[in-house]
Amino acid sequence: MAKKKILIINGPNLNLLGKREPEIYGSQGFEDYFKILKKQFPKFNLKYFQSNHEGAILDKLHEVGFSYDGIVLNGGALTHTSIAIADAIAAITAPVIEVHISNVHARETFRHHSYFSKYCAGVIVGMGLTGYELALRFWDRKTPAKAF
Ligand code: DQA
Repeated sequence: MAKKKILIINGPNLNLLGKREPEIYGSQGFEDYFKILKKQFPKFNLKYFQSNHEGAILDKLHEVGFSYDGIVLNGGALTHTSIAIADAIAAITAPVIEVHISNVHARETFRHHSYFSKYCAGVIVGMGLTGYELALRFWDRKTPAKAF
């Protein structure tokens, strides 16, 4: 059987993981963590994309959203502002899991609202980088998605 294709997308400022506010986001860079994830999930065809540009994230969602098995999306601050990305999540057929490294609900009120969550298969917040691993386990399950 072909490996499931899953793309992790990180939005603005997440290229700075490891350097950026480590007390909130931890001290590990995402490239290093992605190597660990690839080893942890050898049964998936796992890809990673990061951009600081809303349009580039939209283009990527359109590119993979009708052919991949799933997308893990940490939209960074665009989560709280981008109706265009919310519309793209609604438009595509691949299930999207929204991830936030920090517990956005314990932070500033402008981080409490997500334009994306309504269109996502699930949302994981506040689990640090482990949130990406937990999201990937959604595609590893034996129970059909409809049971959730
Ligand atoms: C974030 C939370 C957002 O509010 C913030 O703008 C980010 C990172 C997180 O992973 O905790 O850039 O998405």
